[in-house]
Amino acid sequence: MQIKFTAEPAGDAIAYLAHEGEKGPELLASPEGGQAAIRRAIMAGAFKASPGQVLELLAPDWSEAARILVVGVGKKTAVTDLAWQKAAAALVKRVLTGGAKSLSVVGAPDRMVAAHLAFGARLAAYRFDHYRPHLKAEKKPTLTTLSVVTESAAGARSDYAALSARAEGVELARNLVSEPPNVLHPESYAERIQELSELGLEIEVLDEPAMAKLGMGSLLGVGQGSVRGSRLVVMKWTGAKDRKAAPLALIGKGVTFDTGGISLKPGPGMQDMKGDMGGSAAVVGAMAAIAKRKAKANVVGLVGLVENMPDGNAQRPGDIVKAAAGKTIEIQNTDAEGRLVLVDVLWYAQKKYNPKAMIDLATLTGAIIISLGNEHAGLFTNNDELAGRLSEAGRLEGEPVWRLPLGAGYDKQIDSDVADMKNIGAAGNAGSITAAQFLQRFVDEGRPWAHLDIAGTAWKPGNDNPLEPTWATGWGVRILDRLVAEHYED
Ligand code: BES
Ligand code: MN
Ligand code: ZN
Repeated sequence: MQIKFTAEPAGDAIAYLAHEGEKGPELLASPEGGQAAIRRAIMAGAFKASPGQVLELLAPDWSEAARILVVGVGKKTAVTDLAWQKAAAALVKRVLTGGAKSLSVVGAPDRMVAAHLAFGARLAAYRFDHYRPHLKAEKKPTLTTLSVVTESAAGARSDYAALSARAEGVELARNLVSEPPNVLHPESYAERIQELSELGLEIEVLDEPAMAKLGMGSLLGVGQGSVRGSRLVVMKWTGAKDRKAAPLALIGKGVTFDTGGISLKPGPGMQDMKGDMGGSAAVVGAMAAIAKRKAKANVVGLVGLVENMPDGNAQRPGDIVKAAAGKTIEIQNTDAEGRLVLVDVLWYAQKKYNPKAMIDLATLTGAIIISLGNEHAGLFTNNDELAGRLSEAGRLEGEPVWRLPLGAGYDKQIDSDVADMKNIGAAGNAGSITAAQFLQRFVDEGRPWAHLDIAGTAWKPGNDNPLEPTWATGWGVRILDRLVAEHYED
């Protein structure tokens, strides 16, 4: 879908934005000659202009457009950037496959709102139809052009540039999470990331011999049952005036398929585990957005890419591995593999880049879905300032997070009788927290660090948020890109 900013509405469908007023909907703009008809339709359709509510008038004789729509954005006092985005998204959801080729949105009060309308529309128009060559015509999008009407088209275009970069990052993350695991495996994934050097990112790929040399026995143990080679991929963006300034490090779990390994998962639902690289996809998407909009910050993204398979050569429960940090780990469950991957990546990030803060994202535990469902990602951090920044960025971007505790009482659950630690805590006992404690054992003293457990948000069954139209949400790109924009740029 092409996005334009124009002074006048045109096209097969024209949509007018409306606030939810005390005495009924208040249109932000309305068509000449059509007011009476719209008023009647509002009454007939019990339309209140609540957030995302859409009213449609077909073939009006007073307009050249074949469809006139009214879109609710909610009460005037409550309209945030996100509310504008959601209104445009609801509109696109309604119109996308309905036959209209071009759609105009009218009523943006200023250029920034126009940009947010475009951003919301763009996210809502996302599809992943690559593997559906025989999709029926009526299920295919017909909409090819969206025009956002604004008096300051040039201004809106420039405000949209950064949001467009963010949207591209979200689309990339969704594509990666959606790809089937026979297509996207550690080797092909690394190659795909390498293509991002076009954006000015410096990409470095570590293969198994390189990681073995660094002593990454924890990450390598997870991948040893796979016929695919494991990879650690580093994406570096140096946009700060001081090119030597310590970067922010973003770290992602990239398990391209998680069978559980020898501690095999049950069959039903296992196909979702192609999304177990969702944390890495968020990091890759965020790095693409950051590069695309030429952020004035130093940011390094690091993703650990492995496939967790059962095999004659696979890791066993009972194995003891040594992480690059020198600590030994007793493997008690090969399905608790994400933490094993992450700790070697965390070690590498700290040793090589001495980051001023470190944020990891991972579809780490089923337990976080028990705690927070699909609404919030779990936040664990050793730093209150980082907690505040992430909470605020997530709230504004519609990617909310909820902080959970860390503490010595939880930490002792992962002490082992035979090694420095074991990779699981007690069954049915604060599983998301003990996973975070495991990670924290590899975070240097005093280094600001946050861990986001996105097992409930990287993909969502039956998601009715119009900004997230597919199973894969691309969760993480928006919160990370905003965090960088607000707190880490010159
Ligand atoms: N990738 C899973 C976590 C997961 C579960 C993500 C459901 C999304 C949906 C992770 O590797 C895992 O298997 N965790 C185990 C840990 C347990 C063995 C301590 C889990 O949550 O059951
Ligand atoms: Mn697992
Ligand atoms: Zn996993």
